Amino acid sequence: MNNNILNEINDLKKKRNAVILSHFYQRPEIQGIADFIGDSLELSRKAADTKADVVVFCGVHFMAETASILSPDKIVLLPNIGAGCPMAEMADYEGLKKLKEEHPEACVVSYVNTTADVKTLSDICCTSANAVKVVNTIPKDREIIFVPDKNLGRYVEKMTGRKLILWQGYCNTHNKLTVEEVLLTKERYPNAKVIAHPECREEVLDIADGVFSTSGMIKYVASSAAKEFIICTEDGILHQLQRKYLDKKFILPSNKLICPNMKKTKIEDVLYSLANMKPEVRVSDDVREKAIIPIKRMLEIK
Ligand code: 13P
Ligand code: SF4
Repeated sequence: MNNNILNEINDLKKKRNAVILSHFYQRPEIQGIADFIGDSLELSRKAADTKADVVVFCGVHFMAETASILSPDKIVLLPNIGAGCPMAEMADYEGLKKLKEEHPEACVVSYVNTTADVKTLSDICCTSANAVKVVNTIPKDREIIFVPDKNLGRYVEKMTGRKLILWQGYCNTHNKLTVEEVLLTKERYPNAKVIAHPECREEVLDIADGVFSTSGMIKYVASSAAKEFIICTEDGILHQLQRKYLDKKFILPSNKLICPNMKKTKIEDVLYSLANMKPEVRVSDDVREKAIIPIKRMLEIK
């Protein structure tokens, strides 16, 4: 990596009192300059707690938006403003409003992978790390609308025994992985443990040894005696797994497991962002005041 760029980023970070947050799916060089790397739940907690004035969010738009909602006094930069999440775009404000009218008593649980507008219509947010826990806090007799990920929703149904009204969204990256690809990989590595992100299809989750958020996968590997792991999530996570566990082997079951949006942010974008203090992500005060409620409710669940 170019040392001049690294030095410039470090100087600007000090000058701006900035912190760089990175999701596990970011390019290795971005993870390498980050002050903190985490899953979406950890990153939202970090963004809420940091003492920095500027948060450089190396992830996708809804993550930066959530950080800004939690910390309106901070400047939240998304170095590549084109980094969106297609699944978050699958749930729209008007559609959810209509669904709520059809189920006026229902509690709306929205995955944090949603727009701020959708969060304004939600009772509580969740991430892949806490979705089961969140749904278990809702009284048994209350209907639940779950947006937008049908795969995560189905997994939560299985784990909680609850019936959810599922939005039919999905992640373009995880949903591409087929059970045949996983089984073929398992034939080549019969001793490997299969670990999967809950955004994968139901058939993939059914044959997995464990279903976890990105951080959960790393914890599972740390505590497992196994030496080989078939990783059913975005390829960016391999960077942390390979550098932390040198004696273990990690196999991606498909070459389609790349989120184009997570890969948009380049080191030059981070430098540009810190130098020019843009692109900034911020929502209007009225949206923020409503959208913060379900996010805070989620963060209160330990
Ligand atoms: P995590 O919550 O596991 O970090 O996942 C976020 C995401 O976008 C998965 O595709
Ligand atoms: Fe969105 Fe899927 Fe990319 Fe995660 S991996 S940011 S859910 S498109």
